[in-house]
Amino acid sequence: MTVLEQTQKPEALQNYLEESAYNKVKRMITESAGLNTSGYRDEYLKRRFEIRLRATGTNTYARYILYLKKHPEEFTNLLNDLTINYTTFFRDGDVYQHIEKKLLPKFLFSKNPIKIWSAGCASGEEPYSLSILVHKVFGSSLTRNPVTIFASDIDKDALSKAQNGLYSARQLATMDQRTIEKYFTKESENYRVKDFLKDIVHFEQFDLMKTSLHVNLDLILCRNVMIYFSKEGQQHIHMNFYRAIRDGGFFITGKSEILSGEPAQVFTALDYVTRVYQKPAKPPL
Ligand SMILES: C[S@@+](CC[C@H](N)C(=O)[O-])C[C@H]1O[C@@H](n2cnc3c(N)ncnc32)[C@H](O)[C@@H]1O
Repeated sequence: MTVLEQTQKPEALQNYLEESAYNKVKRMITESAGLNTSGYRDEYLKRRFEIRLRATGTNTYARYILYLKKHPEEFTNLLNDLTINYTTFFRDGDVYQHIEKKLLPKFLFSKNPIKIWSAGCASGEEPYSLSILVHKVFGSSLTRNPVTIFASDIDKDALSKAQNGLYSARQLATMDQRTIEKYFTKESENYRVKDFLKDIVHFEQFDLMKTSLHVNLDLILCRNVMIYFSKEGQQHIHMNFYRAIRDGGFFITGKSEILSGEPAQVFTALDYVTRVYQKPAKPPL
């Protein structure tokens, strides 16, 4: 064996063992925390895992596995680091303008109850922004024409913040004073979402890699979630959405996200700036 081979082999072996240990961490997350990691991008997962490797002082995946076995509470930290929850009320104002001016008025004429899904809702700003617009557009016709907003996330902590509906003044900064007074109640330094906004929002924990819980949806928003997923993972999720949307219903992605593969073929792009897509209506027989 040459000197070069002698020095290279341990490194190659080391890399191989680390890669196997990395895959084992992925499996452990699925088994212990129920999150299907198979659709996530490896470079994203590695970047997030390495934060925990450093924070726990383990520095290698092999040692991190032992740590996870000894400290199962570490799964919670790992999940928190994997699911970045940044969000705001009315994130990207033009998207919400489109929903308010173009999509919701169409739903006013629907004969069926309207169903909207905020998929990857984080701490609730997205579904509550939708609820504000629904109340603005539907007003008193909500009693005749019920609207339900399903709001799901994988992250339990984000969901419990969403259900609590309590936000700081800083978190409300994207709204004007009149909107805040109409839809929130001041509680010392913070603001709580009023009950009538909450009444039409149903929160649920849900992993997007699973098949949709709902069908015949009028609108799905899944924005700024796909950044974590591989191309295959994204296509899998987007096709699940396609099946869950009623014919003629709508789908909105994040502004920096693009559809690829089969979803790009089956959805019709309506607006490239706001990333609004439509599932074509079936032609009459
Ligand atoms: C950056 S936030 C986006 C929040 C909101 N949609 C927006 O655009 O402001 C991404 C959310 O996706 C959620 N998420 C990540 N992986 C998920 C999965 N497999 N299933 C469901 N939600 C997931 C995270 O927990 C996080 O709350």
